[in-house]
Amino acid sequence: MNLTDRPRRLRSDGVSPLVRETRLDPQDLIAPVFVDATADQRRPIESMPGHERVPVDEAVERVREVRETGVGAVLVFGVPDSKDGRGSRAWAEDGVVQRAVRAVKAETDAYVITDVCLCEYTSHGHCGVLEEGARDDPHMTVANDDTLELIARTARSHADAGADMVAPSGMMDGMVAAIREELDGAGHESVPVMSYAAKYESAFYGPFRDAADGAPAFGDRRHYQMDPANAREASREVALDAEQGADVLMVKPALPYLDVVRQVREKFDHPVAAYNVSGEYAMLQAAAEKGWLDLEAVAHESLLSIKRAGADLIVTYFAEEIAREL
Ligand code: PBG
Repeated sequence: MNLTDRPRRLRSDGVSPLVRETRLDPQDLIAPVFVDATADQRRPIESMPGHERVPVDEAVERVREVRETGVGAVLVFGVPDSKDGRGSRAWAEDGVVQRAVRAVKAETDAYVITDVCLCEYTSHGHCGVLEEGARDDPHMTVANDDTLELIARTARSHADAGADMVAPSGMMDGMVAAIREELDGAGHESVPVMSYAAKYESAFYGPFRDAADGAPAFGDRRHYQMDPANAREASREVALDAEQGADVLMVKPALPYLDVVRQVREKFDHPVAAYNVSGEYAMLQAAAEKGWLDLEAVAHESLLSIKRAGADLIVTYFAEEIAREL
């Protein structure tokens, strides 16, 4: 036997850090934060242990907690005080995200990204205004073009409140161009857009819908979010957002879609983000609670794998835990 090539030579404790290809860094992580205009105290999110919805006047405190772990960026989601058919509290100057962002920007040095979508703000829970007859016809849901203006208005109101970056997640065609134009027209030409460019119609969003109160009241999102069966289509989606001026391209969810993360990494030179979604978090939490998995180890391995697949940044509910460990 002639064993000259022995990969194990590079696995000793001394050398393995030298040849390690991928590393996690708290600076690559983005922590989601939920602000709830209907809450007067912090409320734990049952399906996402360790996460809470916080009242607007505790948003600053919540972001400080994130900052203390070494994570620099937060992604802000809002639960509004009221909902209507058009989601008008999404772009209100005194809306939940707008108030929270103003306070957080005034009081902390966090980099503040906002989720731009209407689903938490519409009474029907869809990500835009409905087409006529949508409730009765399963083939119709959100009116794409009528929604664009509302999304653009929302993004602009976030930037007006001081958001450093906006992240549209509604999967409307043309949303990045509409937002870019509106931001530029309002003097926010230096506010980047991180587009949820390839966002799948995924059952892994379940726990988030408890957290942000954004489940559709009827039907589902398969007429605007992507079919989990499709990978080539992701390139087409991402190319459209890149053409429209997206600065950061996101794939969501992350772990079940690492092939897509890798594909976007290889085809585009933009920074690539991956969203390690609520269901990915909840599964590990639930198994760890049963004593079946070592939470810290599987969380670390998950995020490392997402980076190895090609993500530069990761939105994750594990951000604070992992940053603390690092
Ligand atoms: C939509 C939005 C969703 C998530 C982020 N933004 C939910 C959806 O599309 O149904 C899901 C995030 C997660 O599951 O962690 N505003």
